[in-house]
Amino acid sequence: MQTLRINSSRLQKDFDELAQIGTTGDGGVNRPTFSESHLAARAWFRARTLADGLEFRQDAAGNHSAILRTPQPDAKTLLLGSHLDSVPNGGRFDGALGVLAALEVLRTVKEAGLDLPVHLEAIDFTDEEGTLIGLMGSQALIGKLSPAELAKPRGGRAPFEEGLTRAGLDEAVIPTAARSRESLVAFLEIHIEQGPRLQTSKCDIGIVTNIVGINANKLTFTGRADHAGTTPMDARRDAGLGAATLMLRAREEVMRDFQNCVINFGQISFSPGAYNIVPERAELAMEYRAPSQLELEMLKSRLIDIAQQTAQQLNLKLESEESGCVRATPCSLKVQDAFTAACNTLNLRATRLTSGAGHDTMSLAQICPAGMIFIPSTGGSHNPGEFARWEDCVNGANVLLQAALELAK
Ligand code: HGY
Ligand code: MN
Ligand code: MN
Repeated sequence: MQTLRINSSRLQKDFDELAQIGTTGDGGVNRPTFSESHLAARAWFRARTLADGLEFRQDAAGNHSAILRTPQPDAKTLLLGSHLDSVPNGGRFDGALGVLAALEVLRTVKEAGLDLPVHLEAIDFTDEEGTLIGLMGSQALIGKLSPAELAKPRGGRAPFEEGLTRAGLDEAVIPTAARSRESLVAFLEIHIEQGPRLQTSKCDIGIVTNIVGINANKLTFTGRADHAGTTPMDARRDAGLGAATLMLRAREEVMRDFQNCVINFGQISFSPGAYNIVPERAELAMEYRAPSQLELEMLKSRLIDIAQQTAQQLNLKLESEESGCVRATPCSLKVQDAFTAACNTLNLRATRLTSGAGHDTMSLAQICPAGMIFIPSTGGSHNPGEFARWEDCVNGANVLLQAALELAK
């Protein structure tokens, strides 16, 4: 019997159409959560779903789903998907490939007239990238989006409220998006690797074994605003110097003592903010990642130590506010094995690797068997240059299809 495969040209037509929504003109997309372009992409997904004869559903957290229901009573749901939101000026593959491949799996199964004992659902999760909260839709779906995160979204209350209004969502009912763990068979996600390992290893598919834990903090150094010309250099309480010193020290410590980990300072701001004023306040957006929860905790305490030492040495006040923590997550062995079997069926070379990026799979893994695969990509990611060869995208979608059929049994 021939191996069922997805319809490559239909998937590519969808991919190219979607990539035009919010296009930056240089191959990338700009679709931050609940921006006009993000809402347009979601409207496109809804129209595609209905045109394909699938059921459309939006939950209280704004997650958008296409559903292929089984007539079998009391059936559970096999969830496939990723996210249509992007980082500012991101790439057209990050997230979008996973949502479209999931939709294509549903269409292929529907066309083949397969009567599976599960509902198949292709989902686009809200705010995976963290413009507002980070993993917002998937955390809401597993019932773990905390009131604290809603009260103090890392992207700010005003953008959060304005975004919810544009999307027609009511903050008060977001928690009702929660699903029971009993209702889900598994969650599968395909994603570009966003790094060089598959290219180097010449493998077609990366089966993800575990996903790094991620901690994010907003750090604020406070000193004293002073005249930049008349204040002696050794008499300043320069908050900007505190921020710069911490950035350099943190990078050195991670590269020396935490070689499996990474750290990033993605935003820095000084105030009052003028050429001729010694900065009174410096705000830093710090994020660090580790492959295991133990390493993440060890790195956290080291970073707190060096931040406090820096503040003390420079006579500054330091405040630190957590703005998102997701635990290091192992992927389901059962799902990894289903992906391996799918690669064998399709004669694809597979390897197993860790994910240095965070994904919605981290959320779903907390309530059901969850896993993901990578396809090779070049040009890095979170920039318009991110790229994947179409044959690799098709390979990924076919592995998703075969793994879904395996887990649906
Ligand atoms: O930041 C990440 O790792 C993911 O792309 N949201
Ligand atoms: Mn991303
Ligand atoms: Mn992503």
